[in-house]
Amino acid sequence: MAIVGLSELLARGVRGRRVLVRADLNVPLADGEVRDDTRIRASVPTLRRLLASGARVAVVSHLGRPKGAPRPELSLRPVAPRLAELLGSGVSFCEACIGPEAGDAIDRLGDGELVLLENLRFHAGEEQNDPDFAKALSESVDVFVNDAFGTAHRAHASTVGVTNYIAETAAGDLLESEIEHLRAVREPVRPLMVVLGGAKVSDKLAVLEALAPHADVLAIGGAMSYSFMAAKGEPTGTSLIESDRIEDARRVMSAAEESGRKLLLPTDHVVADRLEAGVPTQVVREIPAGSMGLDIGPETAERYAGEIASARTFFWNGPMGVFEIPEFAEGTRRVARAAAETAAMTVVGGGDSLAAVNQMGVGDRITHLSTGGGASLEYVQGLELPGIAALER
Ligand code: 3PG
Repeated sequence: MAIVGLSELLARGVRGRRVLVRADLNVPLADGEVRDDTRIRASVPTLRRLLASGARVAVVSHLGRPKGAPRPELSLRPVAPRLAELLGSGVSFCEACIGPEAGDAIDRLGDGELVLLENLRFHAGEEQNDPDFAKALSESVDVFVNDAFGTAHRAHASTVGVTNYIAETAAGDLLESEIEHLRAVREPVRPLMVVLGGAKVSDKLAVLEALAPHADVLAIGGAMSYSFMAAKGEPTGTSLIESDRIEDARRVMSAAEESGRKLLLPTDHVVADRLEAGVPTQVVREIPAGSMGLDIGPETAERYAGEIASARTFFWNGPMGVFEIPEFAEGTRRVARAAAETAAMTVVGGGDSLAAVNQMGVGDRITHLSTGGGASLEYVQGLELPGIAALER
């Protein structure tokens, strides 16, 4: 069954109806303030359209991992004023997400008004996809809209269970746009270039295995590239290696080779004696004993950038080095610049990759910035995301 989109839902009429919107407002907070509002901004278009159509909107989300108990520092309250500012309309906040308090807050809404409910994960039932919790969430509402792409890979009460109790469901604009762009990576206009970075092969193994035979060119950066180099018998000094993943790295390389795809590894490196801001650094082709690789070198960065320039579809997830420290950020910044300059359809996901793109002020030159780190990786692997599948039923 096809997923109902927001336009179709609005065409049926939502004035005066109570709509539960699952958003992903899992944003970083510091000292009780929102530090990065990307995900709040991304939620605004759907909310705005619902409000303009006269819906009574209750927004739910998780924030962090409170593990089923209230944690004041993980309250969604600080998100409410930022959401109000971005929406340009009032947002009330309710300290509960189920029960009479939440029900009253929803009942008090007028047409075109919105309440943000408290963190779903203050209840263990959310992550357990507990039917009672899902039922409680559905009690005071008529329609369910899922716009939380970032959480679509979790089978939780608010992404899956709730659809068993609310007959009318729809996908929000963000969810639809994410699916559309990530599908273009799954079914690409070729050549497809993929850059994967990050610290650990173990974190990215499934996506490496899926994309090595799929991408025309797969370039690897970040600390996980040292495990690949170790698999080839190249010197890695004191770089971070996952010795129990070397066999996996070998398998990924063979999969690329057997499929006639190109798998690129760094050929030069920024190294230092230790991981610390301000330490002396060196660019080397071969990592000396006693040194650790902390970023791809300039020659590698140019080679990756060249491949990005000639791609027609480009997908990037994960930093090329220790991006938080300026001495080791250049590789990631070069990939961000190449992503902005290429004529390819570009999709970027993952915290550090997005931070690099934003830091360089090139976000508006990327075709699609995915709000889902884990979710986007699972989607491009071809996995079914439970939150999406639940809307199809
Ligand atoms: C994310 O930040 O990737 C999503 O909000 C999901 O959060 P989780 O990994 O804690 O489920």
